[in-house]
Amino acid sequence: MAKPMSILFVSSEVVPFAKTGGLADVSAALPQVVRELGHDIRIIMPKFAAVSDRKFKIHDIKRLTDMPIQLGDRTFLGSVKSSFLTNIKTKVQVYFLSNEQLYCRSDLYVDPKTKEAWPDNDDRFIFFCRGVIETLILLGWKPDIIHLNDWQSGLIAALLKTEYANEPLFKNTKVVFTVHNAAYQGVFPKTSFVKTGLPDKAFKLEGIEFHGDINLLKAGLMYADAITTVSPTYAKEVRSTKEYGYGLEGVFKKKARKTYGILNGMDVSIWNPEIDKVIPKTYSAETLEGKLENKKALCDHFKLPYDPRVPVIGIVSRLADQKGFDLIQEKLEDLMKMDLQLVVLGSGEKKYEDLFTKAAKKYKKKVGAHIGFDEELAHLIEAGADMFLMPSKYEPCGLNQMYSLRYGTLPIVRSTGGLADTVEDLDAKPKSGTGFVFEKYNAKQMLDTIKRALSAFGDEKMWQAAMKRAMMKDNSWDASAQKYIELYKNLLKKK
Ligand code: ADP
Ligand code: GLC
Repeated sequence: MAKPMSILFVSSEVVPFAKTGGLADVSAALPQVVRELGHDIRIIMPKFAAVSDRKFKIHDIKRLTDMPIQLGDRTFLGSVKSSFLTNIKTKVQVYFLSNEQLYCRSDLYVDPKTKEAWPDNDDRFIFFCRGVIETLILLGWKPDIIHLNDWQSGLIAALLKTEYANEPLFKNTKVVFTVHNAAYQGVFPKTSFVKTGLPDKAFKLEGIEFHGDINLLKAGLMYADAITTVSPTYAKEVRSTKEYGYGLEGVFKKKARKTYGILNGMDVSIWNPEIDKVIPKTYSAETLEGKLENKKALCDHFKLPYDPRVPVIGIVSRLADQKGFDLIQEKLEDLMKMDLQLVVLGSGEKKYEDLFTKAAKKYKKKVGAHIGFDEELAHLIEAGADMFLMPSKYEPCGLNQMYSLRYGTLPIVRSTGGLADTVEDLDAKPKSGTGFVFEKYNAKQMLDTIKRALSAFGDEKMWQAAMKRAMMKDNSWDASAQKYIELYKNLLKKK
């Protein structure tokens, strides 16, 4: 094997420690596969309240206790703790940067009372970025690659190219910045700029300035050695229009030559109906009848009448505008006239929480809704539903459609980002199709596509063949992890 590389993977959420969405799944699964391939990869994340010392066997690193971290004229103290991500094959070290005042709260980014971002998110994530660099210096660990993810770690790229440009430890280090979602940018007022520690010259169009504010996603884009997006289609979309680039489309365009679209994989040790520990009945492409037992359990869970001939459509999602719930809102009455059942698991924006709670009350035999975050129920929905609905306005990658394919739960998706890259339409391609796809972000197109899915469901032979094809698709991390490794290697070849 070629020489192993050392990599620091920086993320604000990692399964099983803390999770709000797909970033957490990716931040555990990708490092594990890279480790399996022989590289020294370690992870660092903030120590949020959910990260319990006892549950996760976390211990202190004595020499990294009470490190002073400067934010403008204030000094915060940060301590680093450590544990491991373990699976059957690997052990990946995880560092946690802790500061009680900043991180010990009920939610990662948002105050659940107001549903607004915590007012000091600038302090919380500037502290994180500065703290990560100080941690490396105190550890004396010199990673070949620092792999950043999303706005929460974007500032690190800018700091390494300015304040720490002459730090010998990072002389040969290259920075990769992965964009999981360009709509979340970490924009703060100009007054937050001094906290970053960046030189004045960084507050400009070619730096992190954004319409008079600072933008931490832009910090990652402007200063990283390479940028990746989590699907090839999304890489093109973010530079195409304002709808996808959220004001950074010009920057994405400028950086197109440094940008690579690498499709996420899924963790097949967790999402696999053959070995899934939390579903009532495991099954495979050869034992599809097992899926019906899960469907029955799912209907029971939501107190819906069970009828194997009535298709159950599942949704597991953050309830955010991104995910296309306004289309469902628009067509709910029409949907309720159709012969189907809908089960929804999600939390987020109140208007959508209300939409589904009310629908479940009004259509007791047709709709089940659980507002909240529940990993086990997410598995039961994937296993028990017949179809999975993701009518996203945009979807950088999307993991749930991949989980659905694996569970033989045919996805109904809009053709955007990773959805376009992973689901093929069954009517357009009867021999290779694995789901149902519509092009325009439009409620009628969504409804027509659901109708197509219902009609296909009536053809049992065709449906089962499509289920089997979907379940055989290889969306594991193997191929994509190799692409990241190639990217790391190519960067290290450059001076
Ligand atoms: P995003 O990251 O945009 O939220 P993804 O499809 O990439 O979308 O990933 C979502 C992840 O979060 C999946 O693992 C999904 O199962 C999980 N998830 C989302 N909402 C919930 C919920 N309410 N309960 C349990 N899991 C959820
Ligand atoms: C983001 C995106 C989602 C993607 C996930 C993991 O949250 O919204 O599409 O799958 O990150 O990369």
